[in-house]
This record gives sequence, C-alpha cells and structure tokens, in this order.
Amino acid sequence: MNLLSKPYSLIRKELDEVEVCLRKVSETTFPLLSGIESSLISAGGKRLRPALFLLAARMAKKDDFADIVPLAASLELIHVASLIHDDVIDNSLLRRGKETANAKYGNHVAVLAGDYLFASAFGLISDKDYPRIVGGKIVEIVKLLAVGEIQQDSSLYKITTDEEAYYCQIEKKTAAFMAVCCEIGALVEGIGTDIANKLYNYGHNLGMAFQITDDLLDVTSNDETLGKPAGRDIKQGVITLPVIYALKYSLKKERLAAIISNPLMSEEELQEAVMIVRECEGIARSKKKVQEYVNKAKAFIPEECSENLRESFDFLADYILKRNY
Ligand code: FPP
Ligand code: MG
Repeated sequence: MNLLSKPYSLIRKELDEVEVCLRKVSETTFPLLSGIESSLISAGGKRLRPALFLLAARMAKKDDFADIVPLAASLELIHVASLIHDDVIDNSLLRRGKETANAKYGNHVAVLAGDYLFASAFGLISDKDYPRIVGGKIVEIVKLLAVGEIQQDSSLYKITTDEEAYYCQIEKKTAAFMAVCCEIGALVEGIGTDIANKLYNYGHNLGMAFQITDDLLDVTSNDETLGKPAGRDIKQGVITLPVIYALKYSLKKERLAAIISNPLMSEEELQEAVMIVRECEGIARSKKKVQEYVNKAKAFIPEECSENLRESFDFLADYILKRNY
C-alpha cells in the first residue's frame, strides 16, 4: 500500500479534485506546453503541499471544502514550476524517472513552461475570493524559493558550508513552503493565528525533515528507486548535511574535500566521494536529525485537532521517516 494513502484518507476527495484541476490546466494550455506539463503533473508527485494545506483547512468545522481546491492545486503548480526551473539550473535530465522538460525541449522552452505554470497558479488564485493575506503569503514564499536557490548557487563546491548555512538554505527552498501551506490552510478558513502558527511550525519542521531525507537519499539510494541519478548533489556542488558531517567525522575527510570542491570531478571520483559519505557516521547523524525534526513537528500538532486529523498529521510525519524516494 502507498505510504501516503493513510495520512491522505481524510482529504482523498479534495485531492482527487486537485488532480482534475491540474489536468484542466494541463489540457487547456498552449499545445506545445501540454506535453511538458502533463508529464510533470502526472509523473508520480507526492502532492505533499496541497495535502498539507487541505489537512490544515480541516481544522474548520465544515463539510464541503470544494471552494479551496483551486488554491490547493495552485500550490502544486508553483511547486512543479519551481522544479522545472530547478532542473534547468541543475541541468538535470531525469526527474521522477522521466525525462525533464529541459532534456526534452531545451532550456528556453523549459524556462517558459515554468513561467506559464507559475502564471497559471496565480490565475487559479486570482479567480477566487480568498482572504487577502493568503495571496501575500504565497508571494513571500515564491520570493523565498528564489532567494534559497540563489544562496545555494553561491555556496556550490564550497566545503566551508556549515550546518547553520545548510539549515538556512533548506528552510528557504523547502521548509518555508511547507510551513506556509499549513498556515494558509488555517487562514483561508478563518482559523485563529494561534492555531495557524502551530501549523506553520508543524510544516516547517516537517519540511526540514523532508529535505534532509531528500539529501540523505541522494547519497544512500540508487538511481532506479530515486527516479534520478544518485550522488547528483555532490556532482553539482551542493553541500548537504551528510556531506557536512562526513567532512567533519570521516577518516577520509581530506580526500572527500579534495574531490567535492572540484567542479570537474570525474565519475570515478564522484563514486568514491559517495562511498566515503556512505561509510561514515554522518549518515546515522543525519538520520538522527530527521527524527528530531519529525518529533518537533509532532509536538506542534494543535491540541484542537479532531482525533482523525491528529492521526493524519502524525502519519504524515512518520511517512518522512519511511520514504525512500
Ligand atoms: C528542488 O530541491 C528545488 C526546490 C525545492 C526549489 C526550486 C526553486 C527555484 C528554482 C526558484 C524558482 C521558483 C519558482 C516558483 C519559479 P532539490 O534541488 O534539493 O531537489 P532535487 O534533487 O529533486 O532537484
Ligand atoms: Mg535540484
């Protein structure tokens, strides 16, 4: 069984409606773009951001959440747009086991397709009468995504990147987005800021755990399970937590530093670096960090949640610990 079916069971109906909404964006779009969009929109996404948003909205005591489905879909579109741009920046050829837009159509079309999706996301929001604060939060998050990418870009191949700088980067590129998805789920339903803040913190800690897991999988998993080549972060010069720990604790730290600070590293050197990171206690230390963030996330699940909702937030946090792609 899919690990997400349990935490998603409460919002299954709305998530299915999100799929319909995404398909509509995909089908009604410019023909050249539809191939790009539909492969990314349908290719095995976890729909984590709309799910967090919809679960948070469930704090409201009402029966029908159809009115917030477009907003949920817009969050996924922003995510997909950012991934299309990310693949251009990283020159990645595979994502979720499929050819990326840049691999298939080239960088120019891929950048424009990302822009188009991005505008489509805002189209879904501006069509509706959502509270003003929601739009502002989404604008802030998109700015933060871009800043996170710029910061990451400026620290590529820099082995002086420390744990603090790493947390700061992943907060911007991943955790803040998940936090805001939870927060606006509450805000769109007029739930008070006290609960919205707790949900923000839940999403933040979940996002931190999610990104560290992503970075762990990059060195511990294989290409087939990941749907993209393993060791890619090292190849691209992104200094992640397991690497930061390996640079601190591995007996081969000097060799590792020499390899990963060189943008021209060979495939053999890359594999050697991956092995050094895998063999070192940095993997266990990073996993411990994931557990810490998951525990923190759980501590922020609002007491005001119904039993079912609490269970869903809880399962979702546990999913982060179990996921392998
Ligand atoms: C994937 O992370 C990338 C992101 C989470 C953020 C990408 C953001 C931008 C490119 C800024 C532009 C934003 C918009 C909305 C147009 P990763 O690189 O760690 O994961 P990966 O290994 O799957 O690529
Ligand atoms: Mg990337």
